[in-house]
Parts: sequence; C-alpha cells; structure tokens
Amino acid sequence: MTYVLALDAGTTSNRAIVFDSSGAPLSSASVALPQHFPHDGWVEHHGGDIIDGLVDSARAAIAEAGIEPGQIAAVGLTNQRETTLVWDRSTSEPVYPAIVWQDRRTAAYCADLKAAGLEPEFAAKTGLLLDPYFSGTKIRWILDHIDDGQGRAERGELAFGTVDTWVAWVLSGGQRHIMDASNAARTLLFDIDRQCWDASLMGHLNIPAAMLPSVLDSAGDLAPIQAEFFGAPLRLTGIAGDQHAALIGQACIEPGMVKSTYGTGCFMMVNTGQRRLPSQHRLLSTLAYRLNGVCTYALEGAIFNVGTSIQWLRDGLAVLDDAAQSQAMAEQARDDEVFLVPAFTGLGAPWWDANARGLICGLTRDTGRNEIVRAALDACAYQTADLLQAMEADGQPCAALRVDGGMVVNDWLCQRLADLCGVRIDRPEVTETTALGAALLAAIGAGLYPDLAQATAQWSLQRSFQSTLDAPTRGLRHRAWQGAVKRALSE
Ligand code: G3P
Repeated sequence: MTYVLALDAGTTSNRAIVFDSSGAPLSSASVALPQHFPHDGWVEHHGGDIIDGLVDSARAAIAEAGIEPGQIAAVGLTNQRETTLVWDRSTSEPVYPAIVWQDRRTAAYCADLKAAGLEPEFAAKTGLLLDPYFSGTKIRWILDHIDDGQGRAERGELAFGTVDTWVAWVLSGGQRHIMDASNAARTLLFDIDRQCWDASLMGHLNIPAAMLPSVLDSAGDLAPIQAEFFGAPLRLTGIAGDQHAALIGQACIEPGMVKSTYGTGCFMMVNTGQRRLPSQHRLLSTLAYRLNGVCTYALEGAIFNVGTSIQWLRDGLAVLDDAAQSQAMAEQARDDEVFLVPAFTGLGAPWWDANARGLICGLTRDTGRNEIVRAALDACAYQTADLLQAMEADGQPCAALRVDGGMVVNDWLCQRLADLCGVRIDRPEVTETTALGAALLAAIGAGLYPDLAQATAQWSLQRSFQSTLDAPTRGLRHRAWQGAVKRALSE
C-alpha cells in the first residue's frame, strides 16, 4: 500500500493530511500559525513557524495513520499565495518576517505605480492588478527596509520566494530554489503567456533577477525532502497555490467549471482552458496549473475577508463562542436588512480598494447578535454574487458552483449562497479540496496517475442546494448590498 502526504501551508494554520491511493483522507493534523500585526494594515508570519507547523503536523498525521514514512510515495505542497519571504542563501535565515498576502503596507507605492501609468503593462503580462495583495511590491519593501538590501540581492546573496519556495528550500536542505508556475503567476513579475520572469516588470520594481527562483511545472520530480524531516527521504512531486490546488481537488478541469473556497477569504476560479481570458470587469486572469509544460488558465475573483468576519465576531466582539454556532444563530435571526461589509483589510475583487474599511449598517433598536451573525454570513453570499456577476459579464456564466473550505459545512450558508447568487451550489464529499488537489498533483508527479482526468475521477457530490428566492427579490437585495459596499469604499 502506498500513501500520499499533502502539506497545506495556509494563512492561519499549517496542516498535513495523509491520503490513501484511492484519494481518501486517512488522517490529518494541524498547527495554528501565529499572526503578527505590527501596524495598522500590516500582517506578518515568521518563516520558522511555517516550517515548524508543517513538520509537526505531518509527523502527527503520519503517526495517526499508523504508516511507515517510507510508504509515502509522494508529497504534495499547497500554500497561501503571494505571501513574500526573502532569506539569506548562505544561512537560510529570513532577513525579514514573511509579509502576508493580506498586508496593505505597499498601498501608496501601488498608487504611485498606477499614477505612473504602469498598470496596463502589469495587467497585460501578469493578468493581475497593481494592488498590495501581490508579491512584487512586498519584495521591494523588504529590500528597502533591511541593511544593503538592494546590494545583497544584486550580488545573489538573497533569495526571494513565496511560501512554496521557502518550504521546498528548507525541506530540500537548501538544494532547490524553485516555485511552481501557479505561484509564480501571483508575483507581479511573471509573464503568464511567455512563462518567464519579465525583465521590464522587474525593472519597474527594481528587483534583481539573481534573487528569483526557477519556475517549474505543478507536478514532476520537483525537490528531494531530507530524511531528517519525516523519518525517510521523500520526494516533493506536486506544488500549487492553494486556490489552484482546490480547483483540481474540485475536479474543475474542464473549461467553464467553477469552484469557490471559503476560508480566511473567498477565492472563486473558473477554468478557461488553454485560453487566457483577459477580464474587463476587474477579475484576475491567472494560470490555473502547468503540467508537462502545458498551461491551463483561469479567471479568479479574490475576496480578502470571509471567515475572518466570523473570527472577528467570536474573538473581537464575543458575539459567539464558536464558529459552529453561526448556523443556529443565523437560522434564528430575523430577516432584516442589516449589512456587514467585511473590508477589514480593504476590498478585493471586483472593487480593489486597499483603503476601504468595514462597516455594519441597517441597524435598528432590536438588532441583536443573531442578526449580526446572519449579516456576516450574508456577506459571504453577496460577495460571491458580486464575483459571479463579474464573471458573467466577462463571458463566463456559471450554471453550478462547487464550494469547499471550512465554512461550507454550514448548510444555512450553502442555501443562502444558492438563494442570493441564483445558481446551484454543489458541495462535494471531500471538502478538504485544497489538500486533495495537492495530493493529486503529487500523485501525478510521482507517476501514480497518468493524467489529471484519471486523478480527479473520484470527485463525488455530497449535496446540492437550489435557489428558493425569486429573481426580483434577489436583485433588490443585491442592489441594497452594493449600496452598503459603496459606503465602505474610500472614495
Ligand atoms: O491568495 C491568498 C490565498 O491563497 C490564501 O488562502 O486559504 O490561506 O485563506 P487561505
């Protein structure tokens, strides 16, 4: 019997799951990742915490599965994207904490780049927009805030990586400085058509080529893993950014198939096949995955805060003790027009306003805790509706939306998604789709499956939710939500 180990380096936790050869999860473990907020709008992680959390959770998952490390035929890695690390190649020590994707510190720099008229070139080559979300401006910030950063980078003393790069570097004992193509597509430096680092974009941000990793396919013999980590020498054979891995875990491998993942944020992706579709409606055009040198593209809508609203209501306001209570509270809430716009770290697609801030509106004297919780869950559905509207306007209508992530165990939320979005919501048997996608890529990379179609054939539906709301009511509610969003925007 052989097994596949999936490592999931997420924003709030590092997780590991052992899958058997049929793709069924056998055991899992996770370690919370400490978050650091040194200033308003700043979010940092420590590179060492990411490694420790992944290694500890993988050891625990292997022990719980009762298998020998040597039975692991392949290791897959998936990660929070865009989060930026720079380390010293000679010591493998990060020169600065990881700047997390949610961090807004480069908002003014992005505004300057936009004012200089550079956004069209960045968008044409990378499919992205000039927003602090992406890695490029974070690298610039780090080089500007450490001693002799630019000089050390130019002399090849420093290495840049997203979280996948960092993990592969450490687990390989510093032998591999690599990034998979899906992660490279999120850096603002990678031309997703030509599949290379772009000298002109690097020039605009003054980022030296010497610090950039080699870009590889999402599956293949990517890096060795030293025996000291998991008790046997293993091979890393699959890597993808977490949303790209979830697209695979949801078996959205045909053009037009759409998935949406509800975790810290919400990320919706529609597979556009071998065709890169530029967005006219402020979505991202991105690389879904690259296998045997062949690229599959996607349109993506990225929303920064979804699960964080419930976390904030729990930890910040003590409105509920446990996220699991949100379903019962929402069920008991009155059907009020209370809106919670969770712009805690600005707004992503389709608004892209780094300086927007959150609000709750529509309060009346009898608004209670239940109504606030319901408004937080409603915000997930309304933001999803915003993305679906933009995708449809971009020529990608959605007939059925495959959902996953921690929040979709909530039946009330799934029904609300169907009602407020007007599409069928499909929830799969395995909702650990991110880790599953990484495991499937690893299995392909290790030759356990010949292709993606066979690897994803085991996807199965657990439950569908159909809309029960009439279209005029849905339209009225959506317009009222968009009115609330406009009040949260900075201009
Ligand atoms: O782009 C950021 C995304 O990759 C983070 O995902 O699941 O860690 O919230 P998650």
